[in-house]
Amino acid sequence: MYRQKYSSLLENPEILDYGAYLQCDTLLQCQKPLDKLCNSDELQFQIVHQVEELWMKLMIFTLIDVLEYMQTEQSHRVISLMKRVHMLQKMMSEQMDLLETMSPKEYQQIRLQLGNGSGQESPGFRILVKIPADLWTVFNKHYIQDRNTTIEAIYDSQYQHDDSYVIAESLVEFDELLQKFRWQHLFLIQRTIGMESHSLKGRPVDLLKSGARNQFFPELWQIRNQMTDAWGQSYGKVRDSIVPKQATGTQAG
Ligand code: HEM
Repeated sequence: MYRQKYSSLLENPEILDYGAYLQCDTLLQCQKPLDKLCNSDELQFQIVHQVEELWMKLMIFTLIDVLEYMQTEQSHRVISLMKRVHMLQKMMSEQMDLLETMSPKEYQQIRLQLGNGSGQESPGFRILVKIPADLWTVFNKHYIQDRNTTIEAIYDSQYQHDDSYVIAESLVEFDELLQKFRWQHLFLIQRTIGMESHSLKGRPVDLLKSGARNQFFPELWQIRNQMTDAWGQSYGKVRDSIVPKQATGTQAG
């Protein structure tokens, strides 16, 4: 009785101005009709993927602005917009976790509906992974080369926490959050189909690990290693303990 009552309301919503502006009639028809779902988890499965595509669309649109603002060196704009991108990335990881409320069996039933579809065909993700190369080209030109500086100078010898540094760190954050998303996705896979399985294209799931290790801005990660080596020259790899020798003896005794 309740299912019938509310399903009918869901399928025939009253569209007022709010709904008309947001095109709710089209939006709410982007999922399978409720009576065609293979089980109760399939609606969640479709909606989570659709929402993730929408967040990626917004993220890509925002990153286009970021590229343009970097070209004119409007750094405050870049920093504000990168904050938005980071928030979107965090939401993507967090919202993906909703699917961990689905049982492995229910997912197997949904999987039968997917043909040979693969997340690697995600339109948003395919565009998203192209953008870092352009972000790097533009950042490198406007915030490093045109300013006659280097990553080493920005991070260490002439470190002043300037806009080059803050934007570099926003790129690092972007890279880290993308990696976290990929690892989180691996946990979801482990939870549902298992890491020793194969994708619907027949590829071993384990291959996704190399993508999860990928770094889009290697130079910005490498500087940390270089700094540790350079600073380490003053104290060497293995350091003396800071605990007085006598105290160490007392503790051990
Ligand atoms: C039960 C849930 C899920 C399962 C079992 C699953 C499984 C998989 C598998 C097996 C692959 C590898 C595909 C291949 O080799 O062709 C893949 C890739 C991918 N999936 Fe999912 N996925 C799930 C949910 C999601 C969600 C919610 C998203 C949201 C965006 C997503 C996005 C992706 C992306 C972007 C890739 C490509 C990853 C890369 O290249 O690193 N997946 N997924």
